Amino acid sequence: MNVTILAIESSCDETSAAVIKNGSILSNVIATQKVHEKYGGVVPELASRAHQQQILPVVSEALEQASVSKFDLTAVAYTQGPGLLGALLVGSSFAKSLSLSLNIPLIAVNHMQAHILAHFIDDPKPTFPFLCLTVSGGHTQLVRVEEDLEMKILGETKDDAVGEAFDKAAKILGLGYPGGPLIDKYAKEGNPDKFEFAETSMPDLDYSFSGIKTSILYFLQKEMKKDQSFIDNNLNDLCASIQKSLISMLMEKLILAVKKEKVTEISIAGGVSANSGLRLALEKEGIQRRWNVYIPKFEYCTDNAAMIAMTAHFKYQQKDFASLSSVPMPRMPF
Ligand code: KG4
Ligand code: ZN
Repeated sequence: MNVTILAIESSCDETSAAVIKNGSILSNVIATQKVHEKYGGVVPELASRAHQQQILPVVSEALEQASVSKFDLTAVAYTQGPGLLGALLVGSSFAKSLSLSLNIPLIAVNHMQAHILAHFIDDPKPTFPFLCLTVSGGHTQLVRVEEDLEMKILGETKDDAVGEAFDKAAKILGLGYPGGPLIDKYAKEGNPDKFEFAETSMPDLDYSFSGIKTSILYFLQKEMKKDQSFIDNNLNDLCASIQKSLISMLMEKLILAVKKEKVTEISIAGGVSANSGLRLALEKEGIQRRWNVYIPKFEYCTDNAAMIAMTAHFKYQQKDFASLSSVPMPRMPF
């Protein structure tokens, strides 16, 4: 029997829908909300409204691209959390009504698990057990993956996520939102050894990224007092140096985790895994330390419904279905 699942992602500022058939992704439509750009960050209420406007056209497009009718669907999946409550409500209400009206099972997916399971969309796939450094706008986690749906957090950030550190640093530099991709772009032309920032080291496998943000802010305030054009004249070198510090903090704990866990199947996931410096650093360490490294395709790094669909496929096989009374969970644990 064919298993065809429609998946919906609406946790933050991307409205996305994907169709997966027997484990293969047939479509993955992503509408990124532009409304937040002028505010320098995601405005939750505007995100919910934009999801409401976009969800129908995005779902229709996903079904059309996959050449699938809604009557062919075996199940419908949605992101239950973590994320913005109002944004999650749009996807969950839509998925529940579809499940009820078509009389098909509902599957509730954890967004952070889904980032990791995006590695099973294409080859090469990691073998179990593997480690994943999940780096997004809201989370920074070192995860040991025992089985497709069995994961344990080994360490995580105690304050800002690394994506947030990229975005806040970009804001201080006067760049747009989201700042991560812009820092990445300017860093390519800069000297990463030009400036140094205080890197915070936490015990064990945990992270902290709020200190480095303050260190960048104080450094720039001091330099701008002396020279008003300091940022303009040094933008590339500043971006390259900030990126180097953030990557070095990420890699230090990843190397420690590999030593502790004695696992050499290593992956990265989440929005910041699109960063060219981080991708390169992982490849280099992988060659030096004989790890097998797995880096997601760009379209599966930032938020997308294909990863929700892949996770739903695993959950369908375990008959792990949600009830119509399941609710969005803004702070959903694993
Ligand atoms: O996974 P994601 O799309 O959304 C969340 O679940 O949070 O991650 C978004 C984060 C943002 O902070 C964005 O600045 C960052 O990923 N990001 C990057 C790059 N592309 C996206 N950070 C650094 N370099 C990039 N190329
Ligand atoms: Zn995400």
